[in-house]
Amino acid sequence: MDKWSAFRLSYKQRGRNKLAHLIQEKNFLAGGGSKIQKEEGEMKEFLQGKWFKHPLHPMLVHLPTALWTAAFVFDLLTQFGIGGNPLVRTSFYAIGLGLLVTLLAIPTGLADWLDIKPGKPARNLGLYHLALNATATVVWATNFFLRLGALEDSAVRPTPFVWLSALGTILLFVAGYLGGRMVYAYGISVARHSKEKWRRIAQEGGANLPPR
Ligand code: HEM
Repeated sequence: MDKWSAFRLSYKQRGRNKLAHLIQEKNFLAGGGSKIQKEEGEMKEFLQGKWFKHPLHPMLVHLPTALWTAAFVFDLLTQFGIGGNPLVRTSFYAIGLGLLVTLLAIPTGLADWLDIKPGKPARNLGLYHLALNATATVVWATNFFLRLGALEDSAVRPTPFVWLSALGTILLFVAGYLGGRMVYAYGISVARHSKEKWRRIAQEGGANLPPR
């Protein structure tokens, strides 16, 4: 590798480390020794779905993914004169509902990401996933607020809105693909809620367990 490529690579890595540092080292949701840190740790476990015995993030993310994709399809249909004003409205409400669920999807995703050890490839993947989803959320929020005044009478969604929906959907799909890679290529959050159970069973059976 030449010097310039090595410099660019280390520059990029420094940028990612800074973002990771910002989230992690502020001790946001991370838990630790003090009372506040203990409460933050409890909050992280709550967001990870310990109380529900099921991870919350993968449950929630299907809603914005489905609702925003549907909104894009509805927008396309109205462009071709199908559906009229009821479909224009349905698209608007689908975007709004998707935004509401995203308010829960983001903190639950952050709580899961905090458990990925520094240096693991899935950690950087998580940062790209976060950045793309945050951008998608801003695009869909802009799309939603721009539509506010023109709900009652319009039967066709003006073209710029449809382009915004297309952009939001593409960002969402790429981000979702990276989220899927975290789960299926790196096993992030897989078996998290059953790990302790199997560890206990192995312990009771006298197995020689690796350290946590
Ligand atoms: C609009 C918001 C978001 C959407 C739609 C979304 C979507 C997804 C999807 C589709 C997956 C794959 C789930 C599976 O196949 O089981 C995933 C996994 C994941 N996402 Fe997100 N995500 C969002 C926000 C975030 C944020 C802000 C973070 C913080 C870094 C994050 C961190 C993760 C992590 C760590 C995983 C791995 C599996 C898990 O822990 O659930 N996500 N996400």
